[in-house]
Amino acid sequence: MTVADALLTRAVELLQAGRLVAFPTETVYGLGADAANPVAVGRIFQAKGRPPRHPVIVHLGSAAQLPQWAQRIPPAARQLAEAFWPGPLTLILPRAPGVPDAVTGGQETVGLRVPAHPVALALLQTFGGGIAAPSANRFGRISPTTADAVRAELGDAVDLVLDGGPCSVGIESTIVDCSGEIPALLRPGHIRQEQLEERLGIPIASPSGSSPRASGTLATHYAPLTPLLLVDRNTLLQRIKFTAGRDCGILAFAPPPPEFTEALWIIAPDAPADYARQLYGNLRRLDGSGCRLILVEIPPSAPPWTAVADRLGRAAAGTGPEAP
Ligand code: TXA
Ligand code: MG
Repeated sequence: MTVADALLTRAVELLQAGRLVAFPTETVYGLGADAANPVAVGRIFQAKGRPPRHPVIVHLGSAAQLPQWAQRIPPAARQLAEAFWPGPLTLILPRAPGVPDAVTGGQETVGLRVPAHPVALALLQTFGGGIAAPSANRFGRISPTTADAVRAELGDAVDLVLDGGPCSVGIESTIVDCSGEIPALLRPGHIRQEQLEERLGIPIASPSGSSPRASGTLATHYAPLTPLLLVDRNTLLQRIKFTAGRDCGILAFAPPPPEFTEALWIIAPDAPADYARQLYGNLRRLDGSGCRLILVEIPPSAPPWTAVADRLGRAAAGTGPEAP
């Protein structure tokens, strides 16, 4: 899906004027501002209600722009960029001189990504510079995967929303820190650790305490407002037995038994990529249904499910044992 030239021109004018433009990427929608303009980047934080000094990813139209943003490009980073860009991968690199603190959160590194969505690429290439963009949601909430979800999250706080249809990946990019000696996985995503390791021919480190902070790695991120519990199928059925599921919203792999017809019961896809694509839309639907508790059937523990399990774990992290 593409957008009209006139809209693209308008979007570029707004970015040049220091305003905010939400745009689709293959992962989730981003809330974009001119990455070279600290005042514009500051508006992102206001619109999201995000605490200051959290770094934001700078999106580029092509890897050829890397030298403007990264002070050096280690061989591992170059290999990963060649293999996976444009695509759902963010690389953390030592920042080039002049990259604003507003973007890096004052750290010596910068997060960079060339997204694979045609609208994002058209916007980036027409604008010419880097676009700083976190996910286009209020701080801590579910990332938006449609233009409608962006409008629901941010309303008038965003100057323009480019509609590129539903996101094909559906969860945020894989983040790899390439600023240290050994590349380290900071956030799992659609591109899996095994794929990165296969490409590099070396193991990748798991997140450690000394890695640069990443807000998407806070325990309670990507959370619905309704309490959410991750449960196995038996617990799920036990839990809703006495209410016939009336107060619950459910995301499960199998259809409901006949007695649970009153519950909002979403049947989740069996394939991890499909599950991920629909995940945030499903959580939004459940969150908006008026239920008192969201019950999600735990996904399999196999590696293709790592990123989905990570997001579900964070969505559930704010829900204590006193859940209704
Ligand atoms: O798929 C995505 O990555 C989406 C789309 C819009 O590109 N963006 C996204 O942005 O998820 P955000 O801000 O919601 O999450 C970006 C993560 C945050 O956890 C942030 O802290 C981390 O990237 N990050 C950005 N720059 C960093 C840096 N220099 N060092 C460590 N982490 C960084
Ligand atoms: Mg986010």
